[in-house]
Amino acid sequence: ARLWLVVPAAGRGRRMGAELPKQYLMLAGRPVMAHTLARLHQAFPAARLCLCLDPDDAHFDPAWVPFSHWRRSDGGGERADSVRRGLASIADEANDSDWVLVHDVARPCVRGGDLTRLYAALRQDAVGGLLAVPVADTMKRDDGEGRVAVTESRLGLWQAQTPQGFRYGLLRRALDEAAMRGLEITDEASAVEALGFSPRLVPGRRDNIKITHPEDLALADHVLAAQRA
Ligand code: C5P
Repeated sequence: ARLWLVVPAAGRGRRMGAELPKQYLMLAGRPVMAHTLARLHQAFPAARLCLCLDPDDAHFDPAWVPFSHWRRSDGGGERADSVRRGLASIADEANDSDWVLVHDVARPCVRGGDLTRLYAALRQDAVGGLLAVPVADTMKRDDGEGRVAVTESRLGLWQAQTPQGFRYGLLRRALDEAAMRGLEITDEASAVEALGFSPRLVPGRRDNIKITHPEDLALADHVLAAQRA
């Protein structure tokens, strides 16, 4: 079975409030996207990459792609649509038993060791799984009016990260089915769960942050420096 990397990078990053989509903001001298692709390539130099980009993207530079086997595919309206289109775009080459790791372009700090550990764990697994960390904060649910309705127990709660990895056939079926049923899917695992499977939680690291808000960029800068030290 081959390994495919699907990197959704078609987000416009509205929450960043920046002029550039967040994957193109500069981080330690290079765009966020270049960091993310370099980390994936270091861990999986022989993998094939499918990069999901906004069809109107005016900032992408193929010089940031270190993979020899790669293609771009058009993103969709939501992250799950981008991934689904990416999977459809590799159908000519991918087999149902191939592994697919989906990784957000906005997670440039993922460690190489965690990437290889995740992939090793998945290959022993019948379903697939994801990097995740136990929730550290106390979780409140609001009442819709700015007050606490209830405090949720954080016992056994995990924060889902990426990569998330599944076999091509299962993942495609899961995302197609979720789209058909109109399910609101914010990660691959939840689509697979909706088919009745239980993805494996592979403990990751807290520093695999997702750049979402402007202050996250400074945090990512710090994480990269700390990882180098
Ligand atoms: O906005 P958010 O941080 O949830 O986006 C997660 C990832 O999904 C990012 O890598 C973003 O570029 C990607 N995305 C996408 N297509 C969309 C929306 C988000 O590829 N329509």
